[in-house]
Amino acid sequence: MVFPQFRARRIRGNETFRRMVRETTLSANDLVYPMFSAFGSGIHKEVSSMPGIYQQSIEYIVAEAREVRDLGIPAVLLFGIPESKDAVGSDAYSDTGIIQETIRAIKKEVPGLAVITDVCLCEYTDHGHCGIIKDGDVDNDSTLELLAREALSHVQAGADMVAPSDMMDGRVGAIRSMLDKHGYERIPLMSYAVKYASGYYGPFREAAESTPQFGDRRSYQMDPANRREALREAASDVDEGADIIMVKPGLPYLDILRDLRNEFDLPLAVYNVSGEYSMVKGAAERGWIDEERVVLETMTAFKRAGADIIITYHAKDVARWLAR
Ligand code: PBG
Ligand code: ZN
Repeated sequence: MVFPQFRARRIRGNETFRRMVRETTLSANDLVYPMFSAFGSGIHKEVSSMPGIYQQSIEYIVAEAREVRDLGIPAVLLFGIPESKDAVGSDAYSDTGIIQETIRAIKKEVPGLAVITDVCLCEYTDHGHCGIIKDGDVDNDSTLELLAREALSHVQAGADMVAPSDMMDGRVGAIRSMLDKHGYERIPLMSYAVKYASGYYGPFREAAESTPQFGDRRSYQMDPANRREALREAASDVDEGADIIMVKPGLPYLDILRDLRNEFDLPLAVYNVSGEYSMVKGAAERGWIDEERVVLETMTAFKRAGADIIITYHAKDVARWLAR
């Protein structure tokens, strides 16, 4: 069909028709809200590069978690800022660590909200890397054991799902077998399967106080130039038992999201990361863009590209806008 028989504008002529032919929908059910739990009490400190996002102690986290649940958002993703850090990230797998205490508090006070934990060592190591350092680089295999212990400890504290973000080879399998060995075969694992070494994590590292003290993460996170490699990364996590696979960051990697959607039938998550959030907030504050419109368009783009789950700092605003 060609013009004038075909007129694309006929079906766009009014909002009722547009609603009828809309291919992608967005709901609060699609969202996960990340939160930063800081050791101590009375802490409620806004991250300077992430307006509206706070480092907060447990009493504030619990209050915000309640708000998140009441907005219809099904889950939060927790990051911890421990009292002290060391070379092996001990707080990460301590039964009285910051995350373990936070999980227990949320599970007790906010029933009906799923608690997902970020499993990584960079927030807990004094050098800021995602694993154990040997000969100036992160050692893969000795890190696996600690990650597995960390995941187990989160689950023992009550986490509903664990999300390894370290990018070590074999960590999904190591965590899966540790959980299964301890009777937690029902706990799902969402792997940061395709995580690029990205400049877009800048603001997060201020929020989580996890900037590497030397070097960078390029020896374990993926090269932004690589597309085929993303399929291999995802396939290995699927083989090792991932229940949900994730692409991160979001907007600059929509092609990768679509590739994974076409290749795998597992639920697919996307992480709309800190730098993406900061750019939108910064431009909106200056009046350069319409925040609501740009954020909803971005969320729709994630769904259109194939995401089932969107992890985003905008989650509370999105849920409010959708409820109007
Ligand atoms: C920890 C981790 C990072 C993010 C999630 N988990 C930072 C990093 O790898 O440096 C980034 C999240 C964001 O930027 O919002 N490994
Ligand atoms: Zn890390």
